[in-house]
Amino acid sequence: MADFDVVVIGAGPGGYVAAIRCAQLGMNVACVDEWKNVQGKASLGGTCLNVGCIPSKALLESSENYERVTHDFTAHGITATDVQLDIAKMQARKDKIVSDFTLGINQLFKKNKVTALHGRASLLGRDGETWRIAIAKGEEVRAQHVIIATGSTPRVLPQAPLDGERIVDNAGALSFDKVPKRLAIIGAGVIGLELGSVWRRLGAEVTLLEAAPAFLAVADEQVAKETLRIFTKQGLKIHLGVQLDGVTQTGKEVRIAWHDAQGAAQILAADKLIVAVGRVPNTQGLGAEQAGLLLDAAGRIEVDEYCRSNLVNVYAVGDVVRGPMLAHKASEEGVMVAELIAGQAGHCDLNLVPSVMYTAPEIAWVGKTEQQLKKENVAYKAGQFPFIANGRARALGETAGFVKILADAATDRILGVHIVGAMASELIQQAVLAMAFSASSEDLARTVHAHPSLSEVMHEAALAVDKRTIHI
Ligand code: FAD
Ligand code: NAI
Repeated sequence: MADFDVVVIGAGPGGYVAAIRCAQLGMNVACVDEWKNVQGKASLGGTCLNVGCIPSKALLESSENYERVTHDFTAHGITATDVQLDIAKMQARKDKIVSDFTLGINQLFKKNKVTALHGRASLLGRDGETWRIAIAKGEEVRAQHVIIATGSTPRVLPQAPLDGERIVDNAGALSFDKVPKRLAIIGAGVIGLELGSVWRRLGAEVTLLEAAPAFLAVADEQVAKETLRIFTKQGLKIHLGVQLDGVTQTGKEVRIAWHDAQGAAQILAADKLIVAVGRVPNTQGLGAEQAGLLLDAAGRIEVDEYCRSNLVNVYAVGDVVRGPMLAHKASEEGVMVAELIAGQAGHCDLNLVPSVMYTAPEIAWVGKTEQQLKKENVAYKAGQFPFIANGRARALGETAGFVKILADAATDRILGVHIVGAMASELIQQAVLAMAFSASSEDLARTVHAHPSLSEVMHEAALAVDKRTIHI
């Protein structure tokens, strides 16, 4: 039995970052994680590194390069003939990136003297001032503080049970060994659109079946409208207002029965089906009930703004608690909790967590959407500028999309920024920083932006709030 100041359960971006920060602050820390990779080996990094953010971005980059060389280079006067697609090599590159990073966390743990333990942890209860945590049969550790970062797992649909072959979740969809001719995806959310884009670029005929009547309802309406137009033009077939009836398999294909928005019965035949209908918090086997840990109606661990649970010295961060299911949000909460345990002031503003979709063009936003501001009766001004009027975007051949800035009508404080366009994932950070310092749109407008750069679109959008753009 070992004694630690802190035991972190889960080594995803919430847990491993929390463990490292605790160690930096002088605590004796262990991090317990149960993940095993396809070779059956312990692999740190959670969903994000193993089957999420990192492998999906590797394939997005490879597939975009393929699309560029097969479609876009001719506009630059470059003709490539006999272009070959080697999926095995593409997958091996992705796998190498993943294993480098997961092994890298082992190194980071060693460097910071974090004890890595493998196994499924569950709360056994409190013994005086100490929490007892089982990590394997008959094996337990003790700690003053516990940080739960057990993440999430894909939501399953009873009508479409996964078989890991033809019907897969995100992990399966990242590992196809050849391009499916016909790919169906249930759910046109972030995973559906990112992975749908990957396989479409590589040659699949991709159809997305989405239950919601509106496309990308979480995004600003104008962003959703523009991206639906762009993705449809790229060749993604997106059906909205879908009611899924059932999925059957013949030896050769999967057949999806559904009703369209008009109520007509439809059948879609596909070679592979990806189910991407959201994720559920992972509290399975954690011993929540026996320890008296409170969960909310959605099964998430109930926490306050500082990620404190109802149990003394037990915190929870990341996908297993309220808020967006994003890696950077999980990490920020992990840092906050470590600092709170160390007696410092920790803080994580959920309104300033940027959202990014790594499609082409990318989609990114932070703060309020127009529809939210209307609903909350907040008077606002909007400024917008298109990428097509920007010199760098023209040079790159990346002219789709716009930046829109929403600012308070009275104070000019920036309330939300919405981007559809190349490198939106990088550009949004300017908005996050500005909003973190309560900047006004005038502050952005008065900041010098390098020329020619995509960031000038942000600058012009800020000028547009005051109706004084220079280049349109
Ligand atoms: P996780 O990363 O899920 O890690 C939890 C860990 O805890 C896992 O290793 C799990 O095995 C372990 N665990 C669970 N229960 C126990 C237990 N009882 N004992 C021991 N160990 C346990 N987010 C972004 O911000 N950007 C992206 O580009 C992005 N892309 C994504 C792409 C895909 C395909 C998917 C599926 C997700 C993506 N996400 C992305 C979301 C991101 O992966 C999650 O928000 C993030 O991983 C959550 O981190 P976490 O630490 O809370 O949990
Ligand atoms: P999601 O919530 O983004 O999208 C799921 C979609 O499925 C929704 O549009 C929903 O309306 C639809 N849906 C639900 N039930 C359905 C049904 N029965 N039939 C048809 N459609 C149905 O969830 P997704 O794509 O599974 O991703 C999970 C989470 O992972 C995301 O919410 C996000 O937090 C994270 N993620 C983040 C990424 C990023 O930051 N770039 C990339 C991928 C995932």
